[in-house]
Amino acid sequence: MYQTEIGKDYIKAGKLLDKGELVAIPTETVYGLAGNALDAAAVAKIYDAKNRPQFNPLIVHVADVDQLKKYVVELTDDCSKLLKAFSPGPLTYLLEKSDLIPDITTAGSKKVAIRIPNHPLTLKLLSSLDFPLAAPSANPSGYVSPVSAQHVYDGLNGKIPYILDGGESTVGIESTIVGFDNGETIVHRLGGISSEQIEEVLGKAVKISITHDAPQTPGQLRSHYSTQTPLVIGDISELINQYTGKRIGILSFSNNYEGGFYQIVLSKKGELAEAASRLFSAMRELDQQDLDIILSEYVPEVGVGRAINDRLKRASH
Ligand code: TXA
Ligand code: MG
Repeated sequence: MYQTEIGKDYIKAGKLLDKGELVAIPTETVYGLAGNALDAAAVAKIYDAKNRPQFNPLIVHVADVDQLKKYVVELTDDCSKLLKAFSPGPLTYLLEKSDLIPDITTAGSKKVAIRIPNHPLTLKLLSSLDFPLAAPSANPSGYVSPVSAQHVYDGLNGKIPYILDGGESTVGIESTIVGFDNGETIVHRLGGISSEQIEEVLGKAVKISITHDAPQTPGQLRSHYSTQTPLVIGDISELINQYTGKRIGILSFSNNYEGGFYQIVLSKKGELAEAASRLFSAMRELDQQDLDIILSEYVPEVGVGRAINDRLKRASH
């Protein structure tokens, strides 16, 4: 057990990481649970602290493109274009790994998922280290990803020595994961950079092929990103009638629903980026209200809206 501390001292964070300890770090997407990506023992601690299945690989974080190049075999042309357009930013590249990256970090895969996060404090930290950081989202496996230091504390208190506090994550939804195969660019996870943005830079269509995380074993948490309170998606007005008599919470895109429910509107102006940045906090807040059910609805299926809908779908049961 640790006495988990929250602070803004990236030098302290660096010293702990140097010693093989874990530190939660802020990024523009969600907070990550970081350890030395080149140190198998540190990486093993990450799986442990999160209670994450060992076959679900981790994303490696670096400070810049020069560092990134050290840990992959080569960059494709399309990858270089994307790096130029979106670095630093919420895009993760799936590339053949160099021998420096131990197998445990990629769960045995020859490919490493690697990205340059866009957060000033974490970029300073990464530049100060002589190793990259493996970091999955800093939540216990199965729960909603954290977008503040407090969220990390709520889930991992006692399991790690330090949480580097960089304020609220601005994007609020995990990075997009892209891979490259035979000249094709494939989106494996929808996230902070939309497939439309990628297509614009590459000047060609991308393929969307969502690879879901490790299948859930019976008895474990039911699904990824899930709240404890059941969440259903549909036409909220109809759902309100269907669940009469229940303690209802509402998670809507831009509309307000009458009836005195505990309600969170993601973006009154109907802006997808704002909705994304508030989604996970809203899910956590609703989950703490002792409700029977959370009623929600899909947002427009364009741009980052696709990633929001993906997370809502995964949270629903
Ligand atoms: O925005 C983000 O990407 C955040 C921040 C902390 O950077 N990280 C994050 O990590 O969302 P995590 O572990 O929660 O999700 C990583 C996803 C998982 O679905 C994992 O299966 C996939 O990336 N992944 C990681 N390495 C991979 C690899 N080598 N091959 C295929 N998929 C991989
Ligand atoms: Mg995660």
